[in-house]
Amino acid sequence: MNRLAVITGGTKGLGRAVAERLLAEGFDVLLSFATDHERARAVGAELRETFSGSEVFTIQADASSMDSVDAIESFLESHGRRVDVLILNAGLTARGSLEELDIETWDRVFRANVDIPVFTIQRLLDRFAPNASIVFTGSLMGEQPHSMSLAYGVSKSAVHALVKNLVKFLAPRGIRVNAVAPGFIDTEWQLAKPDHVRDSINSKISLGRFATPEEVTDPYAMLVNNPYITGETITIDGGYSYR
Ligand SMILES: NC(=O)c1ccc[n+]([C@@H]2O[C@H](COP(=O)([O-])OP(=O)(O)OC[C@H]3O[C@@H](n4cnc5c(N)ncnc54)[C@H](OP(=O)(O)O)[C@@H]3O)[C@@H](O)[C@H]2O)c1
Repeated sequence: MNRLAVITGGTKGLGRAVAERLLAEGFDVLLSFATDHERARAVGAELRETFSGSEVFTIQADASSMDSVDAIESFLESHGRRVDVLILNAGLTARGSLEELDIETWDRVFRANVDIPVFTIQRLLDRFAPNASIVFTGSLMGEQPHSMSLAYGVSKSAVHALVKNLVKFLAPRGIRVNAVAPGFIDTEWQLAKPDHVRDSINSKISLGRFATPEEVTDPYAMLVNNPYITGETITIDGGYSYR
């Protein structure tokens, strides 16, 4: 049986690219998604055809609710699987001014980006394989002030802090925990941005462009494979702000 990588938000964008990367390394994958069944079915079929030596599972599990934890746990139980790699990638943003912000929005973003990941790890503690690795998707916006979403920026900062704090709790179990903090990646997440906003962002990136999802997968693979890295957040942003 191959090792299993569980990737939340794994059917599109960055999560899908990381899935392909780990499939190419011989993992089986469990990809969670929130709403788009059709895409999940299509991606599952495509990946099964390309990576015939691996198993590809997709599961609807909205990562902003504890139901998603139940769904992942019952998958593991019914398939008799352990988790070798957990990529906590599903995330939520809510753009708006400070004046428009309400506490429900703040809570929703923190719940998806911080709270549910914590309780996913807690629930899966006894289901990790020896030498398991957890990788969060953080964000450059957790390092740099975010002008469009206070909740998003602060919640991603919390993810980076969480990684360091979790080391103390997970190292005794032989589990490593790290994060990748990407800059701007050309995924559907970014489609809503009008051209003038993209141009403004590009003008701040030393390399002058957004990354492709595939370009961002190297740090994930390194953090999954290197047995001596834990508690790190690796930024990959094309030299944002050096320009
Ligand atoms: N794109 C960027 O520039 C960028 C930069 C830094 C960090 N990030 C982070 O990277 C992560 C992925 O972003 P992306 O750009 O790859 O997004 P994306 O292209 O929009 O893909 C999102 C994926 O996550 C799933 N998803 C969305 N909400 C979910 C939820 N509540 N529960 C479970 N799955 C959910 C989607 O499934 P459905 O289609 O079914 O909803 C889809 O598979 C996020 O944490 C984001 O904060 C992105």
